[in-house]
Amino acid sequence: MDAIECIKSRMSIRKFRPDPVLDDLLIEIIEAAKWSPSYKNSQPWEVLIVSGEKKESLSKMLVDLLDKNEPPCPDIPEPQSWPPAEKTRIDSLMKKRSEQTGKDLNDPEVKRKAKIVNFNFYKAPHGIFLFQDASLSLWSLFDIGLFAQSLMLAAHAHGVGTVPQAFLTDYALHVKKFLGISESKRLVLGISAGYPDWESPANKFRTDRVGREDFLRVIQ
Ligand SMILES: Cc1cc2nc3c(=O)[nH]c(=O)nc-3n(C[C@H](O)[C@H](O)[C@H](O)COP(=O)(O)O)c2cc1C
Repeated sequence: MDAIECIKSRMSIRKFRPDPVLDDLLIEIIEAAKWSPSYKNSQPWEVLIVSGEKKESLSKMLVDLLDKNEPPCPDIPEPQSWPPAEKTRIDSLMKKRSEQTGKDLNDPEVKRKAKIVNFNFYKAPHGIFLFQDASLSLWSLFDIGLFAQSLMLAAHAHGVGTVPQAFLTDYALHVKKFLGISESKRLVLGISAGYPDWESPANKFRTDRVGREDFLRVIQ
């Protein structure tokens, strides 16, 4: 697969097969991602992969916290409002997903169940957490985003599916304690990884993109 094909065909996978990805392949994917650019080559990313029983226990802890109505405490707060253009795109996604699933995605019970599925890593065999020193600037947050995309593209090139998940950072403090990550780190993103279950309706849904006239201007 060439680079353009890889970028255009990657999609978020929301149902995985249980078979694990070989350790060597996971490491190869991370090794590829490390060639991402970063501000002054600072490489401000740290990665932790959790699998097996430890991942199962982590899921259980997150679901328990949700059941106890523990308020989320992500290191990067969830946005409370959006500018009009972005809001329109989010609403459009929600409408299409509601139509596809037949569920009202604003229903609190539907939202709660969606969180549980997220906390169970969409049944993926691996969870990948990206974090960095909390004192790093916004540029480093930008850099770790580049790293995340490289990781997901490298995975896709090897037939490994991924989904980036802000929800996996909801209980950042608890996750860091559970995984032995220092409190001085900023938990940026969780990524579920594994082989896609292509039979699942969850993986039949493809998001669209606005036309380039909505975001591109060329001046000469
Ligand atoms: C920073 C970030 C956080 C996200 N958080 C979640 C999440 O918590 N759960 C989820 O199912 N998808 C999450 N997504 C996936 C987006 O919904 C998805 O990327 C977007 O709808 C475009 O679809 P695509 O990835 O299939 O192209 C996240 C994506 C990004 C970049």
